[in-house]
Amino acid sequence: MLKQFLLCSLLVVVISLQCPKTFGQPAAAPAPAGPDNITKILEKAGQFSIMIKLLKTTSVGNQINSQLNDSNNGLTLFAPTDNAFGSLKAGALNSLSQEQQDELVQFHVIPMVLSASQFQTISNPLRTQAGGSGTYEFPMNLETSGNSVNISTGVNNATLGNAIFSDNQLAVYPVDQVLLPMSIFGPKPPAPAPSPVKKPKKKSSTDLSPAADNVPADTAGTIKSVTRGAVIFGLGFIGTFYL
Ligand SMILES: *[C@@H]1O[C@H](CO)[C@@H](O)[C@H](O)[C@H]1NC(C)=O
Ligand SMILES: *[C@@H]1O[C@H](CO)[C@@H](O)[C@H](O)[C@H]1NC(C)=O
Ligand SMILES: *[C@@H]1O[C@H](CO)[C@@H](O)[C@H](O)[C@H]1NC(C)=O
Ligand SMILES: *[C@@H]1O[C@H](CO)[C@@H](O)[C@H](O)[C@H]1NC(C)=O
Repeated sequence: MLKQFLLCSLLVVVISLQCPKTFGQPAAAPAPAGPDNITKILEKAGQFSIMIKLLKTTSVGNQINSQLNDSNNGLTLFAPTDNAFGSLKAGALNSLSQEQQDELVQFHVIPMVLSASQFQTISNPLRTQAGGSGTYEFPMNLETSGNSVNISTGVNNATLGNAIFSDNQLAVYPVDQVLLPMSIFGPKPPAPAPSPVKKPKKKSSTDLSPAADNVPADTAGTIKSVTRGAVIFGLGFIGTFYL
């Protein structure tokens, strides 16, 4: 009788331990005690060695871990696979400044935890931790069809894989391309329109270069008289206004 009772209790314990696994992501390991550790999660999943390295060299990894420890909204990470990094142009990463590498990694972090079903209803552009989502900043747009989710950055497109990790603080999805932000890889914003009135360049008394004397005397005279004309017109206008 006692034996049966013990066996029964054991069975109950085993079943209740197994239960959460059945309902969660089958691939995801049971959450360890304490805050999530992004490095550990990516190491466990494999094929993210370059992203892990970048998280370390930019220290965004530490920042993510401490954010996970005290943020209310949680985080979502789009993790490019090693293959994704492999399809970048040679030297593309190394030609970036430290600040740009930081921004590139932050561009893959969304400051809230997003479940797969939320992608269907989220509004574009998505805000990333890299900064603003204006055209020449860090725009990111999602497009969904059924369960498939594509991300477009204005520079390139990527497809989202199934979550490799997800709890109430963190969701990690693999992406098949490194997400290239406009701010770093896109065209630069058009230069502001040149001001209509060109001021004649002041000739410095210490400027002895011959080039400075190349302006023909009559051109300089014309510029001077145009300026004078404008001043007289301006005074006249102000005068009219006050009279
Ligand atoms: C996170 O995991 C990595 C690798 O497993 C480990 O080196 C690091 O110390 C861990 N960080 C924290 C804050 O636990
Ligand atoms: C998490 O936060 C608590 C309290 O703020 C702190 O004591 C602990 O060291 C932090 N843990 C990690 C892994 O950052
Ligand atoms: C995502 O992009 C792939 C091509 O890269 C395309 O075949 C697929 O239809 C796209 N899915 C969505 C939801 O736009
Ligand atoms: C990315 O996908 C969009 C549609 O969502 C398409 O218009 C655009 O041409 C694609 N860009 C690249 C670089 O493939």
